[in-house]
Amino acid sequence: MTVVDTPSTTLREATIPPDGMYEGPRVLRRLPEGWEERPYERFEIVPLGRVIGAEIRGLDLSRPLEPALREELNRALLEWKVLFFRGQHLTSEQQRGFARHWGELETNPLLAAGSSEDVVRFDKASGATPTFENVWHTDVTFRTRPALGAVLQLREVPPVGGDTMWADMAAAYDNLPAEVRERVDDATAVHDVIPGFIRFYGPERLAPFQEMFPPVEHPVVRTHPETGRRMLFVNTSFTTRIAGMEREESDRLLSYLCRQAHVPEYQVRFHWQPGDIAFWDNRATQHYAVNDYAPHRRVAERVAIEGDRPF
Ligand SMILES: [Fe+2]
Repeated sequence: MTVVDTPSTTLREATIPPDGMYEGPRVLRRLPEGWEERPYERFEIVPLGRVIGAEIRGLDLSRPLEPALREELNRALLEWKVLFFRGQHLTSEQQRGFARHWGELETNPLLAAGSSEDVVRFDKASGATPTFENVWHTDVTFRTRPALGAVLQLREVPPVGGDTMWADMAAAYDNLPAEVRERVDDATAVHDVIPGFIRFYGPERLAPFQEMFPPVEHPVVRTHPETGRRMLFVNTSFTTRIAGMEREESDRLLSYLCRQAHVPEYQVRFHWQPGDIAFWDNRATQHYAVNDYAPHRRVAERVAIEGDRPF
């Protein structure tokens, strides 16, 4: 037996988590401050997470969406950030029709299209889709106006695995230590198409896309345009640096901020069956597609809704 006579860490060091991540009780506030919670009248809601994620029951999304139902679903989206609808089996046309109630549909030249230009088809077996969705990210933040949200349907599900996870970026912001909040509240960050797609496309094929989407600056903390809530808005896939900050300091801070999406208390994880739909608020969340099902096949189709310029 070896006797260690020098302590491996000092008491002061021991009070600071090694990677700077706070542990212990967290602020888990699902709704914006002062938000009046009312019951839903047109469907049943089954919470899947404390701050994010709920299953909606009692709706058939292939049927026309009355304005009052659209309003109530929008309220649920704002309150839960991602909504799940089991066994819908929508045609692409119906899926597009549902999403169109929230705005124009976005086209994405970087991803393989399905039955029409505004349907993205994720099918690794086809080899046409980038296979790096297993990184925490918000979709298309390299755009001046990143998507408002997306509607994803699973067409083919592997026998095990293939889940998707979402994280609530309002909860991530709520839990930032005061000294970090002070540093990021008025900061902006650069978002770029390169880090998210370089490994799939390589430099030559990616070059024209970077011309199409030049780097853009967004606030590090954005305000939700419908709820007024403050939310952390940087991600590993597309955020390259904090504007006006030394490289090393920016890397350190950005890495810390991006890792907030990894905190389990801010997350929900969904296990898919064929025909299930997820509808997420891309302004308020990040997501991660778990890549654990090879060599089995998983086919998903996504439509995205055009968003606003973050402020
Ligand atoms: Fe994504």
